[in-house]
Amino acid sequence: MSAPRPLALVTGGAKGLGRDLCLQLAGAGYDLLVNYLSSESEAESLTAEIGGTGAVAWRHRADVADEAEVSRLFSTADATGRKLGLVVNNVGIYDPRPLRQIDGVGWERTIACNLNGAFHVCRAALSRLGRGGQIINLGVAGNQMNQAEGFATDYYISKAALLQLTRAMAAEYAADGVWLNMVSPGQLVNSIGEVGGAPGLVPMGRDGTFGDIWEAVRYLLAAKYVTGANIEVAGGYRL
Ligand SMILES: NC(=O)c1ccc[n+]([C@@H]2O[C@H](COP(=O)([O-])OP(=O)(O)OC[C@H]3O[C@@H](n4cnc5c(N)ncnc54)[C@H](OP(=O)(O)O)[C@@H]3O)[C@@H](O)[C@H]2O)c1
Repeated sequence: MSAPRPLALVTGGAKGLGRDLCLQLAGAGYDLLVNYLSSESEAESLTAEIGGTGAVAWRHRADVADEAEVSRLFSTADATGRKLGLVVNNVGIYDPRPLRQIDGVGWERTIACNLNGAFHVCRAALSRLGRGGQIINLGVAGNQMNQAEGFATDYYISKAALLQLTRAMAAEYAADGVWLNMVSPGQLVNSIGEVGGAPGLVPMGRDGTFGDIWEAVRYLLAAKYVTGANIEVAGGYRL
């Protein structure tokens, strides 16, 4: 009998980029724990699809902004009996508005999901990941320039802070053999919030694909001397 596969947890994994990463990771030899918030039926069909590939998948509804719910998410990870090998903090909410229209409620929700949520997930993950374990956080390319536009500032600040958190945790956990990195998409074809891409603004002349992001994730999974890095996968967008 072959050894059980390592477990990968992908937050916000039922749809969009997270869904694609789950399928790619299943193909790369992981069993999957798919976290979702509202996309119950999508999570259900995804776990069934992953099951059809020969991998095993579980799903768990949790709001990553809520530490107690994250704790229960990791109890589910423990109950799979698999060794946790990878966590992908894919959750990212994006509600683009000019800075002057961002109210306190919107600000707090963005920071709670994109930054605090990743913190709760990293903290729970770091107490479980052994040597060779990895965390990959999703950022956004060209963050400084985006921020300066005064548009979706809550989102860009959450991602800028997440990068700093990634670096700080990477420095602290390197000696434990656990690596944390960030992958930062530019404008994806299947854009967040379905607002559409901007291929005319990308020096390489096209929007990015989920496949482009997977190339960077796959690189990190194989890399032996990379931690605290931020890989911008953006075709030269907003350099
Ligand atoms: N797409 C782009 O062009 C682009 C560009 C730059 C960076 N990114 C980054 O890439 C990542 C994925 O983007 P995407 O376009 O695939 O996003 P998406 O389609 O909006 O998916 C994000 C998922 O996050 C989940 N989610 C939101 N808040 C949550 C919470 N509090 N707890 C648990 N799950 C939560 C949602 O789950 P439910 O559906 O279950 O509610 C949603 O399916 C994000 O971090 C984003 O910032 C994307």
